[in-house]
This record gives sequence, structure tokens and C-alpha cells, in this order.
Amino acid sequence: MKDISNLRKEYTQSQLTIDSLEKSPIRQFQKWFDQALKSAILEPNAMVLSTVDNNNIPSQRTVLLKYYDHLGFVFFFELYFKKGTTFRYKHQCITTFSLVCS
Ligand SMILES: Cc1cc2nc3c(=O)[nH]c(=O)nc-3n(C[C@H](O)[C@H](O)[C@H](O)COP(=O)(O)O)c2cc1C
Repeated sequence: MKDISNLRKEYTQSQLTIDSLEKSPIRQFQKWFDQALKSAILEPNAMVLSTVDNNNIPSQRTVLLKYYDHLGFVFFFELYFKKGTTFRYKHQCITTFSLVCS
């Protein structure tokens, strides 16, 4: 087994504490996203979209966030792709952003 356990960065710029969090999750996202836009992240609006199919088998893929506001996040995909068929079955998903800035 290849050992990559030493690939780990120490983050010293800021800390995440309860007191430093915005009350609104969207405002918090905006703060992190603004930081990501100013950093060297290649596609800061890329996010991992997770869905499950009718057998509750999960799948994930990368999509691009196009719009967001206090009502939520907007992204686009082809309905005939796998994520489209799983979405028709269950109108729920989870997204993850990797806004890891240098
Ligand atoms: C950086 C990046 C951005 C992508 N953005 C989208 C997108 O906005 N919409 C989309 O349908 N596929 C997007 N894709 C392709 C998907 O990740 C995926 O491969 C494809 O949509 C098929 O997924 P599925 O078979 O799970 O439906 C993107 C891929 C990459 C690498």
C-alpha cells in the first residue's frame, strides 16, 4: 500500500470557531467563497454533488455552481445522465465544496 499519510498541510491563517461563524449558512458560504475567489483555486465554483439511486446506492460527480442566494444553490446537468435519473427518483442531494485556500 502506498503511504501518503505525510501529505498534510498545517493551516495557520485563521481558526474556525463558533464565534467566528456567520449566523446565516449562506452568508458563511459567501465569506468562504469570496476568499476562494481571491486565491489560486482553479475552479472555486466546482462542487461534488452526491445523490442516491432507487436502491439507495450513492454516487458523486463534480458540477459547477452557477448561482446562489438565501434560497439555495443552482447548478445544471443533463437529465439523461446518471445524476438526472437519480434526481428524478429522489429530489435530494448533498454538495461538498473543497474551498481549501493557500
Ligand atoms: C470541473 C468540472 C465541472 C463539471 N461541471 C458539470 C456541470 O456543471 N454539469 C454537469 O452535468 N456535468 C459537469 N461535469 C461533468 C460531471 O462531473 C460528470 O462527469 C458528468 O456530468 C456525468 O455524471 P453522471 O454520470 O453521474 O450523471 C463537470 C466535470 C468537471 C471535472
